[in-house]
Amino acid sequence: MKGLIVCAGKGTRLRPFTLTRPKTLLPVANKPILFYAIEKLANEGIHDIGIVIHPSQEEMICAAAGNGERFGVSLTYLYQQEPRGIADAVAAAENYIGQDDFILLLGDNLIKEPLKTLIDQLEDSAACILLTQVENPQQYGVAEIKENRIIGLEEKPRFPKSNLAVVGSYAFKAGIFDYIRAITPSDRGELEITDAIERLINSGEKVAYAITSLHCSDVGTADRWLAANHWMMDEQYGANNCISAQSTLVDCTVHAPVAIGSGSVLRNCTIGPYVSVMSGAHLEQCRIEHSILLRDVTVRGTGETVIAGILGDEASINGSSAKGPITLKTGGDQG
Ligand code: G1P
Repeated sequence: MKGLIVCAGKGTRLRPFTLTRPKTLLPVANKPILFYAIEKLANEGIHDIGIVIHPSQEEMICAAAGNGERFGVSLTYLYQQEPRGIADAVAAAENYIGQDDFILLLGDNLIKEPLKTLIDQLEDSAACILLTQVENPQQYGVAEIKENRIIGLEEKPRFPKSNLAVVGSYAFKAGIFDYIRAITPSDRGELEITDAIERLINSGEKVAYAITSLHCSDVGTADRWLAANHWMMDEQYGANNCISAQSTLVDCTVHAPVAIGSGSVLRNCTIGPYVSVMSGAHLEQCRIEHSILLRDVTVRGTGETVIAGILGDEASINGSSAKGPITLKTGGDQG
């Protein structure tokens, strides 16, 4: 069995943060989203992993993940020239996958469910997909289920037939490539993997499913990114903090969980819970909670609490003036 991670999307909904790095390298609990997918496959003993990227992402993604040695796997980079949809990205990997079964992971998705749930069911089916209950099924691929079988799948339906959304983790037999070849672009102009799976179902093949009630997020918007940061910090750190020895904290109050990367200096701050600081931050006389700070952020004497903020590379807030890529909600003195 092989692994395939698709990363080639533009991440337009996460601008400006995706202007300086690919979406899959954005950090969640201070680790690039992509690394979770690689580790998830590695944990299942899947050694050969293809990563589909856009040529413009090559330098940064290859520099970050390399040949996979540090994860104990072998990474092969494959290219999608234009972002024409997930099914198109999968098609770019046809030669690489050959006749093998494979797990497909969307590079911006995080799941807690073990991949074994999908792998076990692939034995007697052509594909297995993971579903979860959501409040806004219109934003996802949606499954229609009758008597424990999937009878239909629809991408971003206006009138969803259920609230069961497709999570970005799939198991396939190599036969899926025949169905991918047969689909045409959707209304949003993309080749949808959802449509290929629907064809598989319509042709009478068995598509198995599992409904996960464990955490899963697709880091597609700022709110979902913050939500993913929250549950992943619980997962990774629990009631503890992860503070780099190469950072200095003076007269600070820290409410766990907080993660602070190297080269950061914090003075007179109240920080946490659920704050991740990538590296090189300078924070002084401020209060920050439920926020993500990327590289080299400066915050000085805001007088208000920064809540649910995302501060991009080199963003700065000095008193009441702010510069750089920032999405912010601030609150009063919340104790
Ligand atoms: C994609 C899939 C969709 C799935 C979602 C999960 O949507 O097309 O079926 O439910 O990922 O994150 P997109 O992120 O392209 O909007």
